[in-house]
Amino acid sequence: MSNLAYERLHHNLKAMKLLTVDSILDNYLEMAAKGGLSTIEVLDHLIDQETKSRNAHDLSVRIRVAGFPVKKVFEDFEFDFQPSLDASVINDLKSLRFIRNAENVVFLGPPGVGKTHLAIALGMTALNAGFRVRFFNASDLVERLIKANRQDRLEEMIKKLARFQLLIVDEIGYLPFSKEGAHAFFQLISQRYETRSIAFTSNKSYGEWGEIFGDHVIASAVLDRILHHCTTINIKGESYRLKERRRVGILPHTTAEKVNWRD
Ligand SMILES: Nc1ncnc2c1ncn2[C@@H]1O[C@H](COP(=O)(O)OP(=O)(O)OP(=O)(O)O)[C@@H](O)[C@H]1O
Ligand SMILES: [Mg+2]
Repeated sequence: MSNLAYERLHHNLKAMKLLTVDSILDNYLEMAAKGGLSTIEVLDHLIDQETKSRNAHDLSVRIRVAGFPVKKVFEDFEFDFQPSLDASVINDLKSLRFIRNAENVVFLGPPGVGKTHLAIALGMTALNAGFRVRFFNASDLVERLIKANRQDRLEEMIKKLARFQLLIVDEIGYLPFSKEGAHAFFQLISQRYETRSIAFTSNKSYGEWGEIFGDHVIASAVLDRILHHCTTINIKGESYRLKERRRVGILPHTTAEKVNWRD
């Protein structure tokens, strides 16, 4: 290759932002010449490497934007500890059909049973499949909606959130919403209805959602929309945090756990 062609190639690769090709080109061409690779094989390898590094970069940006408080994956979840969880329902969620169909998911149950873990794991699965995901604590989200409403930007904020095919709204019910918050939240639910998915976690049964919204009319309008296309995962087991405390000896073991430890 002439010096001029070589210089121009590197210049154009940079200009076209083919930075991976630019960085591996020299070494790879040398190896390809020694190994007698065809032009197609060389081009295929270079473009494949560029695609892989772009996908990895895109995924890491989307993970950062998602704003998870901690990283959780399905692989770290002990399903044996929560026998009330139906594996087929979880597997169906992992297929992400619910996102393609703009359906919702609600994880219900007492503290520590893995609601947030499962919601984040589902979010990670969606990110890996190329979807855009955004995690919010419910109170924090409602604060932001109220602020946007006061600045006459609620519509704009809801439109921005529509960029995310999956919103995760964690801890519905730990803190009640103000009237203004409940109304703004209703706007969000209403605009995502049948167009975009939301995954919720809550320690309150649906019958108790009226208290969270401070208004039974709003609560039932919200629930009506959420539940129209929704999978509810009701986790009925013991807190995993309690199990951890037992393991380190802060709490006594239950009879069942003593048997398990011996196994
Ligand atoms: N079955 C499980 N296998 C492995 N880790 C688990 C399991 N269940 C919960 N955990 C872990 O226990 C901790 C508590 O779980 P998590 O935060 O998901 O509970 P939660 O149901 O959201 O509780 P809360 O209502 O208090 O928010 C986390 O560190 C989580 O990763
Ligand atoms: Mg939680």
